[in-house]
Amino acid sequence: MTQNTLKIPQHIAIIMDGNGRWARQRGLPRIEGHRAGAESVRAVVRACGELGVRYLTLYAFSMENWRRPKAEVNALMRLLEFYLQQEIPELDRNNVRLRAIGRLHELPLAAQRQLEKSIAALDDNTGLTLVLALSYGGRAELVDAMREIARKVKTGSLDIADINEEAIARHLYTRDLPDPDLLIRTSGEMRVSNFLLWQISYTEIYVTETLWPDFRKPQLLEAIAAYSKRQRRFGRVATSDES
Ligand code: IPE
Ligand code: IPE
Ligand code: MG
Repeated sequence: MTQNTLKIPQHIAIIMDGNGRWARQRGLPRIEGHRAGAESVRAVVRACGELGVRYLTLYAFSMENWRRPKAEVNALMRLLEFYLQQEIPELDRNNVRLRAIGRLHELPLAAQRQLEKSIAALDDNTGLTLVLALSYGGRAELVDAMREIARKVKTGSLDIADINEEAIARHLYTRDLPDPDLLIRTSGEMRVSNFLLWQISYTEIYVTETLWPDFRKPQLLEAIAAYSKRQRRFGRVATSDES
């Protein structure tokens, strides 16, 4: 399929998995896999900008990832801080806006500060919106939304009768984002791992055996080509089958 016949998803979400396996295959420490994974982030962000994707949400650190060995967690947090600082000029050149979702207050203070700084520095940009999921859990997001909704009902600013799908969506971390059209998971794992549980109800899922550090523009184009062939029905019958 040529690039012209590709249907470009408005919103791509990626579970960036397989950094550890990539490193192990090379006899390297896991953190080297994460470093190589950061290169893939660079490549994929640039490619999404070029292709005209509007939103790219990257699962960078889950709530469950806090249970990893302390040394790995610390290394990942330092890598995050470094990436956020280092990448500003390149992201700015590419007109990329930055957002973050998750329990961000659980991140180390230095990472929180750097995140705020980077978001502010890129705030006027109008191209791709890069969304980093950090200390993110889909169930925790729903818990946070329900607490906020309950608080509003209690104080009288929200009526129970007005709790509907739109109201719930408005209380999620993703309130400003459309639902993902395409969810990519690298490294072959067939699971969602607590990512965007509410938002992916009708998202097209693409799983590739490629490990995240090996996932670059050609692999992204393959995923988009597969997506382009999908028929999204949203519970209806195909238009060609209507009678
Ligand atoms: C994904 O790679 C990166 C994060 C979850 C932070 P992994 O570190 O999970 O790599 P594998 O799954 O062990 O290969
Ligand atoms: C999912 O990968 C989380 C991120 C990519 C940040 P994991 O490696 O943590 O997922 P599981 O443990 O294999 O489900
Ligand atoms: Mg993994």
